[in-house]
Amino acid sequence: MKLIVTDDYEALSLAGAEIMAEVMAAKSDAAVLVATGDTPMGIYRELAARRAQGRLDASRLRIFQLDEYVGVPPQDERSLYGWMARSFVHPLGTPEASVVRLPWSANGLEASCRAYDQAVQSAGGFDLAVLGLGPNGHLGFNEPPCDAHAPTRAIDLTEASIESNASYWGGTHRVPHRAVTAGMAQLMAAHEILLVVSGAHKRDILRLTVSGPITPDVPSSFLQQAANVIVLADRAAWPS
Ligand code: GLP
Repeated sequence: MKLIVTDDYEALSLAGAEIMAEVMAAKSDAAVLVATGDTPMGIYRELAARRAQGRLDASRLRIFQLDEYVGVPPQDERSLYGWMARSFVHPLGTPEASVVRLPWSANGLEASCRAYDQAVQSAGGFDLAVLGLGPNGHLGFNEPPCDAHAPTRAIDLTEASIESNASYWGGTHRVPHRAVTAGMAQLMAAHEILLVVSGAHKRDILRLTVSGPITPDVPSSFLQQAANVIVLADRAAWPS
């Protein structure tokens, strides 16, 4: 694990954008998994600014969705696909046809998950996976307890995740209770993982992630065993 600690969120966003831009410059059709959530938004804004200045070309990128609520269609404001499209896909000018999506409908969900994992495999795995850190150590919606080899699948959200997601949508009553997530196995096999963590409320779970026991009860602790992980945290989140 490589650890980078920045002074504040703005510096974190610039450092994260630099890491992502380097991957894109080295491989224009890189397979990139992009999280939603609050933390990576500054990174995406910086990348969009670079694209607007003609400093970045993401037109050939292959983008993979990290997670989705089950039963929430793309036109719903809570759609995580919609959030990813607004914050990353459109501002970077990547065609939506180049996005490998997760299913939102319960109908045929299992088959869609298998198709997603097949697409990841065909791409040779993610070149870069950009992940946020859940309050309970979830990555995507790989909720504890989680097997390191778990595939892409549907899961029931834990109370901790419903509460943390409430801030996105205006209350726990607006957070769906079921979700689909890219598998822990697919995340762990990424060629490079960028975990972005900001704020004092993430300090305890970040400590467990980087130096706690490796356990299914803290899915992010498996990152200690993954290749090429960069933990990018601001000082508020860093457990010093
Ligand atoms: C959410 C999402 C994750 C996200 C994480 C951290 O529940 N399922 O994909 O990365 O929690 O979110 P945030 O960056 O808002 O703290």
